[in-house]
Amino acid sequence: MKVLISEQEIQRRVEELGRQISETYSGRPLTILGVLTGSIVLLADLIRATEVPLRVALIQAASYHGTDTTPGELSINADLVPDLKGRDVLILDDIFDTGNTMAGLMERIKDFEPLSVATAVLLWKSDRTVVDFQPDYFGFRIPDEFVVGYGLDYDDEYRHLPYIGVMESSDLEEHTKKVDG
Ligand code: IMP
Ligand code: MG
Repeated sequence: MKVLISEQEIQRRVEELGRQISETYSGRPLTILGVLTGSIVLLADLIRATEVPLRVALIQAASYHGTDTTPGELSINADLVPDLKGRDVLILDDIFDTGNTMAGLMERIKDFEPLSVATAVLLWKSDRTVVDFQPDYFGFRIPDEFVVGYGLDYDDEYRHLPYIGVMESSDLEEHTKKVDG
């Protein structure tokens, strides 16, 4: 698989993001709300690079269904979200593509009456974005290619790769062969 962003580049950038977030919130209690499942690897690394009084919470969002590489309908499950009233909240996802997932999540989180809501992602496919806002924090802007690794999946696989790889047509074929046996 073609590597787009190496493990070392990701680590360096995540540490920078942690410093940036620590400076912005500087001593204020923050809740980082990780979006399941894609944000888990980034969440684990980013919280260890962030030095503010910190709570971690999780919310579930899904817009891709199985082997589709285009978004389907957005579904959000907020059952695991704790009390956020009066707290600064940073929604953390793996990637900001069209931006529809983040827009839906922000709408939903406002019901919890937080003090503020900001957004952070590892990757931003800026050419594909259709919403009228951009992520407050992002690791890398990437071109319009389907990527996997460091939390991002294709058909629920490849999340464990330590780098960001591009899923090319030969990789898709190989995946299909493996799955179909
Ligand atoms: P959006 O709603 O279009 O911004 O899409 C965001 C969601 O789509 C992310 O949370 C990802 O789960 C998924 N997604 C978008 N692009 C990719 C990709 O290149 N690889 C894997 N998942 C992706
Ligand atoms: Mg996702």
